[in-house]
Amino acid sequence: MIRVVVVDDISSTRENLKKLLSFEDDIEVVGTAGDGREGIEVSRQLQPHVVLMDVNMPGMDGISATEALAVELPQCPVVIMSVQGERDYLRRAMQSGAREFLIKPFTGDELVASIRRVYELEAKKGSYSVKPEAQAPEPEKQGGKVCVVLSGKGGCGKTFVAINLAMALRVETSARVCLVDLDLQFGDVGVMMNLDHAKTITELVDGAGTLDWEFVDDVLADGPLGLRILLGPFSPEYGDLVRAEHVHQIVDILRREFDYVVVDTGSQLSEATLEAIDISDQVIVVGALTIPAIKDTRLMLKMLESLRVDRDHISVVVNSHDAHAVYDGPSIERNLKFPVRVQLPSEPRLVGGSIHRGTPLLVTHPDSEIAELMKGLARGLRSPDALAEEIRVPVKQAGGRRFSLRR
Ligand SMILES: Nc1ncnc2c1ncn2[C@@H]1O[C@H](COP(=O)(O)OP(=O)(O)O)[C@@H](O)[C@H]1O
Ligand SMILES: [Mg+2]
Repeated sequence: MIRVVVVDDISSTRENLKKLLSFEDDIEVVGTAGDGREGIEVSRQLQPHVVLMDVNMPGMDGISATEALAVELPQCPVVIMSVQGERDYLRRAMQSGAREFLIKPFTGDELVASIRRVYELEAKKGSYSVKPEAQAPEPEKQGGKVCVVLSGKGGCGKTFVAINLAMALRVETSARVCLVDLDLQFGDVGVMMNLDHAKTITELVDGAGTLDWEFVDDVLADGPLGLRILLGPFSPEYGDLVRAEHVHQIVDILRREFDYVVVDTGSQLSEATLEAIDISDQVIVVGALTIPAIKDTRLMLKMLESLRVDRDHISVVVNSHDAHAVYDGPSIERNLKFPVRVQLPSEPRLVGGSIHRGTPLLVTHPDSEIAELMKGLARGLRSPDALAEEIRVPVKQAGGRRFSLRR
């Protein structure tokens, strides 16, 4: 069934379209809305395959709504319906991300053909893999927990957090932990942990047909305190060889052997990263105290929302490593509309020293404030209920200026 949402301010038009489409066996109107904003809301809830959108509506018009949908719900393609047939309108509609343009009055056949065309193209592109809310809940994931570390901006301390979170999980929960470097082009785990190891994820991609735990075990490097590590490719050009299905297969094997699989990622939302998010149990978003980093964190959170990652499974870590930053935690929370789970202090000497020595801070300075905060984060991941309570550390108030970012 092609699930359609109709957005038009005139109720008789909505009803007519609904009636027209009810004659088709493969099309179902699952919802209607009277203006652009409501159209977005209804689409967010119902995740239709196609949105039929009028242009001129009071409140948010159809073009603005189409633009917003293209960003927020790219899996819901829009067909614009308008009386204006002029070139300029058509161009604006297409620029806004609409897939098709119907000029009123149109026939039922034109309408149906256009809906089917858009549906088939999107289905081919795989856009509908995001499941509508109404479907049955996914079965519980088997085995260890997968925890993906993300950030919109490079240099926020993602790799530092991933390494030390993996170590903290070892130390605090004595769990079996594997760290995976999915920054497939410029992965830093190997160099930051001073690992001299010849095998990387590239080996696993080459042997994808015959992967089993023995094979994977042989490729993993050994880190401090029994941490195991899957290194990223040695050179950026090998990064593209790692496809979503490889990530899926590898993580499946790892989560059977380990209690936690911590995944470091690159700053690009690559196919591999999206797959890792899809199969993860927890997501850590690392941000910093600069305006661009906050903007990117907000975008990342928005993206996670459109990927339907449960808010309760997301932890925001703000790294104050930029010593010039004068923004405070509460204003960031207001801006992100999201709680900050942990705020790491700036410790250039300790952090720099540990990276220089190639030994995680959890090992070099296990009693430092950063180490304690990372241990708290690790304990919270062990018991999700604790995430809500225990490690919700108060974010620090800086004396500096408040800032505001426009939406
Ligand atoms: N809390 C901190 N205090 C001081 N320096 C930090 C802190 N966290 C990270 N850094 C520094 O920031 C740099 C970038 O960290 P990294 O983990 O490589 O970022 P990313 O993986 O996000 O690109 C590192 O060189 C590290 O020394
Ligand atoms: Mg990194």
